[in-house]
Formats: sequence, C-alpha cells, structure tokens
Amino acid sequence: VVGKTYNIASIPADGIGPEVIEAGITALNALTDTLQTFKLNFKNYDWSSETYKKTGKYIPDGGLEELKKHDAIFFGAVGAPDVPDHISLWGLRLAICQPFQQYANVRPTRVFRGTESPLRNCKDGDLDWVIIRENSEGEYAGQGGRSHAGKPWEVATEVSIFSRHGVERIMRFAFETAQKRPRKLLTVVTKSNAQRNGMVLWDEVAKAVAVDFPDVTVDKMLVDAMTTRMVLKPESLDTIVATNLHADILSDLAASLAGSIGIAPTSNLDPTREYPSMFEPIHGSAFDITGMGISNPVATFWTAAEMLAWLGEEEASKKLLECVENVCEQGVLTRDLGGKATTKEVTEAVVAEIKKLE
Ligand code: NAI
Ligand code: MG
Repeated sequence: VVGKTYNIASIPADGIGPEVIEAGITALNALTDTLQTFKLNFKNYDWSSETYKKTGKYIPDGGLEELKKHDAIFFGAVGAPDVPDHISLWGLRLAICQPFQQYANVRPTRVFRGTESPLRNCKDGDLDWVIIRENSEGEYAGQGGRSHAGKPWEVATEVSIFSRHGVERIMRFAFETAQKRPRKLLTVVTKSNAQRNGMVLWDEVAKAVAVDFPDVTVDKMLVDAMTTRMVLKPESLDTIVATNLHADILSDLAASLAGSIGIAPTSNLDPTREYPSMFEPIHGSAFDITGMGISNPVATFWTAAEMLAWLGEEEASKKLLECVENVCEQGVLTRDLGGKATTKEVTEAVVAEIKKLE
C-alpha cells in the first residue's frame, strides 16, 4: 500500500548539478517503485546561471512562494565560470537558505565499504563524523561594505554576526544530534583565543546548553588545532559543531579525508519545519568535468537518503544508503574514487541493487 506523497522541488542548476540530480531522481524513483510504501512527486525548476544571464535573476518573482509549497528541495550546485561566485551563491543557494531559516547545515562523513580514506592509519569505523554548521549568520551574514572603489585607500569590511539566539539554536541542534548518536560526543570548535567576542559568546552558550544534555560529553577545540586532530586522530571525533565559515572549511577536509568530495551530502535544515529544508551534495558545479559523464553521483544518492530520513522515511533512507554502499563495495566507482565507472554505470548499478529489495 502506498502511503504518503511528498512534493519535492528539484533545482539542478549548474555544471554537474543536472547530471547528479538526474541520477538522484532515477534512484529515488526506483526506490519508491520497488518499496511501494510512499510516493515522491518531483517538480523541476530550471533556475541556474543560464537563467541569470538571460533575465538578471536566479529566482524569478514569486519563486520562493512556489518553493514553500514543497516538502523538501533537492538541489544540485550553483556556479558558472562566467558569473562571479559571490553572485551565484547569494543569488540562488543563500537566497533560499536565509529566508527559509535553514539554520542547521548537517554534514555527515564516513568511509564507505569499498572506498578508502587517504589517511594511512584510518581503520574501518575510525572516521564517522557529523559536522553541524551554523548556516544563517556568523561570517556569512552578509554584513559589510566597500568604500572608495578602486582607490589605493579602498576599504572593505566583512562583519561576522553572532547572536545569542542564533548560537543557542545551533548549539541545541548539535547537542540533540550528538545525543542521538551512539558515542554521544560533541566537539565544539571555535577560535576564541584570537576572536575574543563572538567566539567567546559561542563558548559561553555551549557551556550553558550543555547543562540540558548531561549524557553528552563535550570537548572544545580551536579550529586550527582541529584540522590536525581530524587528520591524526579521526577516531577521537564524532559530532562536531562550528561556525558557518569554520565548518565550511572543516567539512571539505572531512569529505576528502573520507575519500572524495564526490561522496558527501549536506542538509540545510529548518528544524522548526516552518519552511521546507534543502538537500544537496557538498560539492560544487565542477565545471572541469561537466558533461563528461564521470561525475560521482554517490554524494547525491546520500543526499537523497538524508532527505528521506528528514521526511520521516527512515527505513527507506537506510535501504537506499545500503544499496549505494553495496555498489561501492562491488567496485563500481567513478574516477575520483579510483575507479573507471561513469555516472550512468554507477546509477544503473544502484538501481539494480534497489530492485533486489523487492
Ligand atoms: P567543486 O566541488 O565544484 O570541485 C572541486 C573538485 O572536485 C573539482 O576538481 C571537481 O572536478 C571535483 N568534484 C566535485 N564534485 C565531484 C563529483 N561529484 N564527482 C567527481 N569529482 C567531483 O568546487 P570548485 O571547483 O571550488 O567550485 C566550482 C563552482 O562550484 C564554483 O562556482 C563554486 O562557487 C561552486 N560551488 C557551489 C556550491 C554549491 O552550490 N553549494 C558548493 C561549492 C562550490
Ligand atoms: Mg564549501
């Protein structure tokens, strides 16, 4: 019996975005066809740097209102060689994340069966992390300005904003995430030695929120030392919370330590569920490999699994991820993971695994 129907807005956007989103939708459709326990109804939005170049806008008038009607957003990547990155990022991705208050950016990373960490001493199970990134303010709050354009005395400011409200809600979310994982270990990352205002507030709020989570072990790291610990002692980490900028950088490091940036997913969540949340692979539009048919769809498959879990379809989510990991273990891997398979071959192998669920 088919249960709920979820309405999903897909925004493939730029570069390899359309290739991986197509692969993701193929896998999701195979999954719902096979399981017959729920339905997904996709609506595609062709918002991209191409539409920006034609119309001057990434999101057409009324676009956000349209998006709001969906249960989730399945996003590819935005960025084109002939549009400045800050225009594309703020024009599409942040233009959705910010008004929709997707303040929690969740980035799980682990080494899949059949893939390898570039770390020589990383054993099975050593690297299994979730990075919680503050996604609404901090260094990417958009505060600042430029004066005296082009003059030798030109100045620019990029002001970080840390509000008690913003820090507290992400901290609570991070503690809840840590509490749900077996190790119940949360590492709070700051730079509160050099950044003595916002980062000190961050430390204080972490300490206050910790009182409500007595079963979670908390530990503190400065962001520079954190990079070393991730590389040298991956097994000592589990759930990690950091600011918008710090976690952005740490999560790319995490993805590559797990084998490739082509694996890792990211969820932009509105934990209040007032607005739809947005799910995307962590990687960008990768124009160096666009159209070659070799982009790794695994990050998008994992993204799809994260989306299903958020929608409440946890069983289906686990099954999908299991199928993807089986395919990795079979050695059907794209070039970034040291294999030779194409996007299509990996997708077909995952669909074949899904069909075995019947
Ligand atoms: P990128 O993630 O697009 O690419 C970095 C490297 O990883 C490239 O060599 C690429 O070929 C490889 N790579 C990425 N995804 C892959 C996949 N699925 N399979 C195999 N290899 C993969 O980052 P880059 O080059 O810094 O940025 C390119 C564009 O993407 C820029 O315009 C940037 O602003 C944008 N971008 C957008 C993001 C988003 O939409 N959320 C996130 C990151 C970057
Ligand atoms: Mg990034």
